[in-house]
Amino acid sequence: MENDVLISYAKKAMGNAYAPYSGFCVGAAVLTDDGDVFTGCNVENASFGASICAERCAVLKAISEGCTSFTKIAIVSSGNDYTYPCGICRQFLSEFMEDGMIVLSNEDGDVKEYRLNKLLPFAFNLEKME
Ligand code: THU
Repeated sequence: MENDVLISYAKKAMGNAYAPYSGFCVGAAVLTDDGDVFTGCNVENASFGASICAERCAVLKAISEGCTSFTKIAIVSSGNDYTYPCGICRQFLSEFMEDGMIVLSNEDGDVKEYRLNKLLPFAFNLEKME
């Protein structure tokens, strides 16, 4: 799937963001190895630490439907610059797309692409501890 299509899924999901505390809306769309798309938005909570990012929302939806391997994820936000995934989301994604691409789009529609292992070198991996 082309990046612009995946980005449009992420933008649509951003419309469902629940962000009354930060006012910062995020949308994400993961593409599975089988070509399916799962989307997510950030969901905040009055107990701020209970909030969840759009990226993990999308991944959780995919995993809970039995899809466990992704080739890329698109991320957009209501901010004007590129929205890089937070550290927790990078680690979370690394479990399911070690080699996958992170596709970011800014307000102007410009696109940047990174391999996850460039944004998170030396991800924690329990198997490497044995
Ligand atoms: N947020 C995401 O959804 N993804 C990120 O990668 C960074 C931050 C959300 C969390 C919170 O709801 C809002 O953006 C402000 O931090």
